Amino acid sequence: MEKPKVVLGVSGGIAAYKACELLRRLTESGHDVRVVPTEASLHFVGAATWSALSGHPVSTEVWNDVHEVPHVRIGQHADLVVIAPATADLLAKAAHGLADDLLTNTLLTARCPVVFAPAMHTEMWEHPATRENVATLRRRGAVVIEPAVGRLTGVDTGKGRLPDPAEIFEVCRRVLARGPVAPDLAGRHVVISAGGTREPLDPVRYLGNRSSGKQGYALARTAVARGARVTLIEANTGLPDPSGADIVRVGTATQLREAVLKAAADADVVVMVAAVADFRPAEYAAGKIKKKDGQEPAPIALVRNPDILAEVAGRRARPEQIVVGFAAETDNVLANGREKLRRKGCDLLVVNEVGERRTFGAEENEAVVLAADGGETPVPFGPKEALADTVWDLVSPRFA
Ligand code: CTP
Repeated sequence: MEKPKVVLGVSGGIAAYKACELLRRLTESGHDVRVVPTEASLHFVGAATWSALSGHPVSTEVWNDVHEVPHVRIGQHADLVVIAPATADLLAKAAHGLADDLLTNTLLTARCPVVFAPAMHTEMWEHPATRENVATLRRRGAVVIEPAVGRLTGVDTGKGRLPDPAEIFEVCRRVLARGPVAPDLAGRHVVISAGGTREPLDPVRYLGNRSSGKQGYALARTAVARGARVTLIEANTGLPDPSGADIVRVGTATQLREAVLKAAADADVVVMVAAVADFRPAEYAAGKIKKKDGQEPAPIALVRNPDILAEVAGRRARPEQIVVGFAAETDNVLANGREKLRRKGCDLLVVNEVGERRTFGAEENEAVVLAADGGETPVPFGPKEALADTVWDLVSPRFA
């Protein structure tokens, strides 16, 4: 079988050295990789490195091997183009269709999925020109992953770091696995809550639950690969950040509600996977609650937390917004699920069958996705990413 053909575009940022690791992962996992650097990027990593690591000749401009028409052929034959790092300048050129070197020509001739992994200083990433260029690229169907937050060149820190090459590789793998189809969530803002809330009793104790957050993270990773801008609101998961998503950290149901409502204001889809505590202690003790000899402990009075899913579904910050809930049921799964779907007012409800093989923190899941229009999609026992992809398969046609 022919190896999948990947074009690795490298533009001129300090993070270019990290693309060596991405290239290595791609070649070692059986991809035929052509590296197309920009002239500026050669200040950071030289052509000899790319040539030796990829096993292909390397050129930055269209005037070498003209008889092979490289400015057309490389793009035409690719199964995937990934640009890492993508500088502000490269994103601007791509958004405007400029073609003044081999990489920008390749971008214009490629008909396969294109992934941009931007890296730049926070100011450049936040500049309205860059924001508009990124929005244009996403609207046209490109996968532009969010930069990571952390140490930048020099002493400053902020948003703009190139995500970990291993994570970019995973995005590429997921995009390639979907085949030559356009990313169906491109240009969409997806909000996902994951994990479990903790309701504090005193500075050292809380009421919590055993949700691992893995299903929510699987939804975030698959949505990134399908082109969405992803806001992941995580409660107490302790999981490593999925690359390409914006992460908001919360602790309690009250904080989760605030974060979800804020992010939902411009969201195309809200998926509530988080296990939200239905109750919280009526009072928070500012000091540690002490036991007293000879005294029974005082009962803990609880109050109801708001139902965030029902609130988001009832409000619909945008009329065409899609709202998805999750539910775990032990018996009368479908009947209870249907009733919950109606009560919460969401469009889709993923009902987990609580069965023998299901444990908290597992890598697999099994569910039925119920739709408000009567649809019922069983998802067999399998990886959480497979369930996540089924959810997106059901969400994306609803945009039309
Ligand atoms: N949920 C929420 N806010 C809450 C409780 C739950 O947004 N206060 C959301 C969860 O994120 C999930 C769905 O509602 O998407 C499932 O909630 P579940 O706990 O199964 O439903 P309940 O209304 O609590 O019903 P039950 O009587 O079964 O506990």
